[in-house]
Amino acid sequence: MNDTQREVVVLPDLDAVSHEAARRFVAIANDAIAANARFTVALAGGSTPERLYRLLASEAYRDAVPWASVYVFFGDERCVPPDDAESNYRMASESLLSHVPIMPERIFRLEGERDPQSAAVTYDARLGDVFGLSPGRLPQFDLVLLGMGPDGHTASLFPHTEGLKVVERLAAANYVPKFDSWRLTVTYPVLDAAANVIFLVGGAEKADALQQVLEGPFNPDEYPAQGVRTPDGTVTFLVDAAAASTLSTAS
Ligand code: 6PG
Repeated sequence: MNDTQREVVVLPDLDAVSHEAARRFVAIANDAIAANARFTVALAGGSTPERLYRLLASEAYRDAVPWASVYVFFGDERCVPPDDAESNYRMASESLLSHVPIMPERIFRLEGERDPQSAAVTYDARLGDVFGLSPGRLPQFDLVLLGMGPDGHTASLFPHTEGLKVVERLAAANYVPKFDSWRLTVTYPVLDAAANVIFLVGGAEKADALQQVLEGPFNPDEYPAQGVRTPDGTVTFLVDAAAASTLSTAS
């Protein structure tokens, strides 16, 4: 087991993972708003969180979140326009953001349609503005949602890419050779400063990477999800039974 203690919760399937994540999202949001009059969250992209987002927009959960006090950022984005089928913003907008009374000016998109470097600089500044950061300070998100790929990447921090080394900025443009494309991502310092990090991981194709991330030697260059370590927060993995099938222990 590597050096970061984590909470690992194994649930029967992705539906159960999504409901558990929704319950935690609601709880963290209400606690944050009670304490600080706002809830700051960075959404994950990819396909796994879509079910969670649809749940949060459903009658079961929608009214449990004070959406007027919610500030939404994104952990990463593909370098495509916001209406592109590949856009994480489009997925989140269609499954959640366009169905809840969140204030549009409190949704902060990574601008995938722009030059990647410029978009990263803009996001860095936007994080600084919204969190009121003095130079060198980090934004402490109340919650960061993350997925994990079969190769152990998270956000757009892919194995052996330059983005893994960026520690002096809050957001970065990261060239991903396996896709021969650029991505936009928040950096490890931002992930590590979060009060709560929740990974959503489902599917047998992720079992090997998950086992390495949770139980293998510390090797974040190979398994970037392993590099998310929050000294002052909690890192929770909500995983389905298929993804957890090779773990030796899980709560
Ligand atoms: C992205 C995501 C990425 C995602 C993993 C898992 O832009 O693709 O941010 O980090 O979480 O690739 O993707 P799935 O949920 O589709 O398996």
